[in-house]
Amino acid sequence: MTTSTNSVEAVKPTKSVYVARLLTDAVTRELDSHAGLGFDIGQEAPPARAELLERVTGKDAAIVTLTERIDEEFFTAAGPSLKVVANVAVGFDNIDLDAAARHGVTVTNTPGVLDGATADHTFALILALGRRIVEADRFIREGNDWVWGPRMFVGLDISAGATLGIIGLGRIGRAVARRARAFDMRVIATDATRPLGSSVDGVEIVTQEELLATADVVTLHVPLLPSTRHLINAETLALMKPGAYLVNCARGGIVDEQALIEAIDSGHLRGAAIDTFEGEPRVNPELIARPQVVLTPHTASAGEATRDRMCRLAVDNVLAVLDGREPLTPVKAS
Ligand code: GLV
Repeated sequence: MTTSTNSVEAVKPTKSVYVARLLTDAVTRELDSHAGLGFDIGQEAPPARAELLERVTGKDAAIVTLTERIDEEFFTAAGPSLKVVANVAVGFDNIDLDAAARHGVTVTNTPGVLDGATADHTFALILALGRRIVEADRFIREGNDWVWGPRMFVGLDISAGATLGIIGLGRIGRAVARRARAFDMRVIATDATRPLGSSVDGVEIVTQEELLATADVVTLHVPLLPSTRHLINAETLALMKPGAYLVNCARGGIVDEQALIEAIDSGHLRGAAIDTFEGEPRVNPELIARPQVVLTPHTASAGEATRDRMCRLAVDNVLAVLDGREPLTPVKAS
């Protein structure tokens, strides 16, 4: 356990912040400059539940990640001193916002600083799937004999008329759309806030049914909410264009993984790329066993500068609230 306290000996920390996971090196170094604050910093790995509850007790603030479940028990353990929980993630499905409100605790997240990195990763997965990069890499590493042939590893012609369907045209969805437009893809999207039939930066707003029936690649960019849990299920998968691909860099719970596996096995879907999992960090072995599935361990936002920005925004939110100012990026219960 590393404990970083203010380096100016004369100034005794008056407020204490529990940091559940190690932040990036750059942001960890910056913590020493915050006079009057003591930081109780955890390890690289997530804390065990008992440790989380013990170390948050009596703290004024907590910086947590999506691996920590922040619920009634957490707020009760923390006690009345806790003013703010800053999640180092844009998603906040790990936090019970009603419990936070009951305890008068502000919750913040990190929107706007990870759109580019997440969209880059999403697009990397689209390219990897469409052009069968992982399958082909594995084929060579396995030592297979090969010779160039017109039928070898044929995949999706991404820039020759393929259609990308974006479910959720928020900041990340729009960043994915910009990349797809640069690759000459037709881009369609669903978005609850925009009129059907309208066009935003070259992206056509369509119904979910039309999107599923038309897109060669469907990519998910909605938060995990009760209304989006298993949005992709046996029924919606059946509506997808035969031979299409699914990409999920949002949250695992949005996809019914068993239904996805069945859609791949039946040949209805040609493949899927998955960055987030239903039982995370457990990965369904049936997904691992399917060569048409590309897997990454929830790393869509893992750009170096992006991770610094996420950690710094979480710290800045804590500083603002402890200073009596408005948080920069509060989560609002919808
Ligand atoms: C990562 O998944 C995030 O929500 O920021």
